Amino acid sequence: MLQAQLTIDPAHRVAPVRRRTFGTFVEHLGRCVYTGIYEPGHPTVDEEGFRGDVLALTRELGVTTVRYPGGNFVSGYRWEDGVGPRERRPRRLDLAWHSTETNEIGLDEFVRWSRLAGLEPMMAVNLGTRGVQEAVDLLEYCNIPSGTALSDLRIANGAKEPHDIRMWCLGNEMDGPWQIGHKTAREYGRLAAETARAMRMVDPGLELVACGSSGSSMPTFGAWEATVLEETYDLVDHISCHAYYEEKDGDLGGFLACATDMEHFISTVVSTADQVGARLGSRKKISVSFDEWNVWYMSRVQAAAPRQDWPVAPPLLEDHYHLADAVAFGSLLITLLRHSDRVAAACLAQLVNVIAPIMTEPGGRAWRQTTFHPFAQAARHAKGDVVRVEPVCPTYGTAEFGEVPVLHAVATQDDADTTLFVVNRSTAEPLELELDAGPLGAGGGAVRIAEATTLTDEDMYARNTADDPDRVVPRPNTSHRSDPLRIVLPPVSWNVIRLSRA
Ligand code: AHR
Repeated sequence: MLQAQLTIDPAHRVAPVRRRTFGTFVEHLGRCVYTGIYEPGHPTVDEEGFRGDVLALTRELGVTTVRYPGGNFVSGYRWEDGVGPRERRPRRLDLAWHSTETNEIGLDEFVRWSRLAGLEPMMAVNLGTRGVQEAVDLLEYCNIPSGTALSDLRIANGAKEPHDIRMWCLGNEMDGPWQIGHKTAREYGRLAAETARAMRMVDPGLELVACGSSGSSMPTFGAWEATVLEETYDLVDHISCHAYYEEKDGDLGGFLACATDMEHFISTVVSTADQVGARLGSRKKISVSFDEWNVWYMSRVQAAAPRQDWPVAPPLLEDHYHLADAVAFGSLLITLLRHSDRVAAACLAQLVNVIAPIMTEPGGRAWRQTTFHPFAQAARHAKGDVVRVEPVCPTYGTAEFGEVPVLHAVATQDDADTTLFVVNRSTAEPLELELDAGPLGAGGGAVRIAEATTLTDEDMYARNTADDPDRVVPRPNTSHRSDPLRIVLPPVSWNVIRLSRA
């Protein structure tokens, strides 16, 4: 059995837990909207056509924010198509996903759904095929109470109160050659700056996100952020990061260490932003909106033949996650929390059916994928402050990241609770972890493990399905002992350990 030690020291506080870390993403893509959040005629549906089972699972997931309506989709989207009487809404080609968009669901329905789910909507504007005027129009429609053409149109469409959307993405992945309206960093930076300036004239208090890189392996990574921020530094609050990971060439150990790339991604973007700030003589700090992250078997999509047809809501990117995916996913979540000083928001991409923690059958059941559980547990138990922990533990070699620690962890702490989130990346061995919980919270005193759960399975590739939805769920870990405090973490496992004063 592997051995490791870990000390939780409140002196290593990073920042408060940011509730927006627990955001997700709803894009008009595949079955995310249609037969995902919305399906008239479904047995659990409400009067607006929203699936009750998906709403309940979204609440259970603990989601705080949802980015909408894309993604690649937004770069060809006309928001006006999705408002007003449904019978007058046009059907359009969705070039990004080679589908037909019916526009049955649009902005007003999405905001109503967000409110029902208890979420903050986060909006993206189209800077692919559109520009400043359309972004300002959308903002007027959403946030001006009344008395102008577009705010009165919103009221006429049934939304009496302004949507009051605070966080706005200035386009999506504009560094990517696959993006409709793809631009150079300078072209995008100028457009983002002009759009931000005009949007702030409407509503100075908005939080604006400039597009950063679509991945740390993009050829423009680093230079893109520097150029975009040179143009936008005083006008935006956040720079985005997007990252997706998958197991490649059967290298499970390397995949379980993929958070190493996310760590590198965040620290490089933060240093680049600070360097631009220093050059501009600014004391302002730009934070990161990690507004797309997940495990995604993108190589399968790249290998598939291009579509010739234009279906409505076809099943696209419907990855079925296994235990090892959920453990890699948990490690990504740990990384986002560890960087809470600079990562102000994050969006798990996406919420339902499309690379998602929630799956549905059209007309039928909904269930929790393996990745649902680390997200839901972190959203529920991460409270108070993030405390950085650095386990003393064995390492293992990976082709992509060199030597990596077998354990990856973070703690959160408030007056009542200390919670440790920890993954064991070993593919072969359990690990006995000895804990030094230091002076717990404000009061100090002896400490015990009040509750511990582990997400694991004898089969690292076990999945949840509609017929067996609870194959991989967190189960109590009763291996813990006192004097000294210790607990056994199985190989390939995600663990939540709650400590309290004895
Ligand atoms: O989340 C799926 C897609 O991944 C998004 O549309 C795009 O922004 C990213 O490339």
